[in-house]
Amino acid sequence: MSVYRAIRPLVFQLPPETAHNIAAGIADRFSGPIRYLAGDGLRSYYDSRLETDICGITVTNPVGLAAGFDKGGRAADVLHVVGFGYTEVGTVTGQQQDGNPRPRIFRYPRDHALINRMGFNSEGSERVALRLKGKSPRIPVGINIGKTKDVPLDRAVEDYLFSLDNLFPFASYIVVNVSSPNTPGLRTLQEGDRLYPLLSNLKRRSAELADEHKKDHIPPMFVKISPDLADEDTDEVIQVVKQTRVDGIIATNTTVDTSVLDANETGGISGRPLTEKARQAVKHIYRKTNGEMPIIGVGGIMDADDAYNMIRAGASVIQLGTGLVYGGWGLVDEIKRGLIRRMERDGVPTIKDLVGVDIK
Ligand SMILES: Cc1cc2nc3c(=O)[nH]c(=O)nc-3n(C[C@H](O)[C@H](O)[C@H](O)COP(=O)(O)O)c2cc1C
Repeated sequence: MSVYRAIRPLVFQLPPETAHNIAAGIADRFSGPIRYLAGDGLRSYYDSRLETDICGITVTNPVGLAAGFDKGGRAADVLHVVGFGYTEVGTVTGQQQDGNPRPRIFRYPRDHALINRMGFNSEGSERVALRLKGKSPRIPVGINIGKTKDVPLDRAVEDYLFSLDNLFPFASYIVVNVSSPNTPGLRTLQEGDRLYPLLSNLKRRSAELADEHKKDHIPPMFVKISPDLADEDTDEVIQVVKQTRVDGIIATNTTVDTSVLDANETGGISGRPLTEKARQAVKHIYRKTNGEMPIIGVGGIMDADDAYNMIRAGASVIQLGTGLVYGGWGLVDEIKRGLIRRMERDGVPTIKDLVGVDIK
């Protein structure tokens, strides 16, 4: 049994957000010693067959950290130590905001699930940019941006642009989050007539910023979608993504479909009850785009089988969120090892060869 699984009953005595904040605080303040003691990540599991890339970003393995677990970038320069191939900071909103009142994260241990209604608690894009300036991450860092609650939907574009301006220098890729269920109206930005102006403006500004910052390439941009979209609505998103030349899709955010979990709290459901829904969303996008649209797969990946199946469904790389709460940091290497074992069993030479095999 891993250390984390042994101490999990103790961790679960704490409210989820407190447990999380303690871990993030340690990562932030002691990143130097952590990197030193852990051999700067060199002791985490490595196998060249797991190396891959997504939209030109090279990663040593396809396992990343999902948004929401390092909202302020506090752990950005230690996450390689536990073996992640990349990480995603955010969601960051344009302006600082507190989010919803606590408690706002709830564990459902029997179902290996969480419900959260954080409501984008964020230090704001300027503060997070300042922090990231002082970090030196060893793995690619995505920046996930979302709308400040007080900004009306009609002014959403400006708010996203403000975040993009502030955070652009630190982004290996950018995520436009239009799918969190806890900011009123946010998910209507997934509708074509709202999504088009948002994405086209962000894309244009990204190109300008790449020039200004003398980057030799424009960081790829992804849009993150909800698992609760009907297929036709997902198709509309795909259409707009193509029209605006956005590079790919992250599928999926949490679900508000209460049929997947018998629960007494409101908010987004993640973890085991989401596994199947998220995988179906990835499959749908992969099939609809003939495998030509890069997909980051996230939602209910709790073990190596889930990770394997998500990649087989069409995800080029994957992300872990709730799985870490139940499995601990050891889950990252456990999944990497498990992927290799399954690839050997099935005669798959590299992880790239696995992408979408269930659809082909
Ligand atoms: C506590 C919590 C906070 C989250 N915050 C964000 C967020 O700020 N932005 C975002 O795009 N997704 C956020 N998510 C969604 C996750 O990134 C992920 O899409 C979702 O939880 C499904 O993956 P999982 O089942 O592996 O957790 C959050 C999820 C949880 C559980």
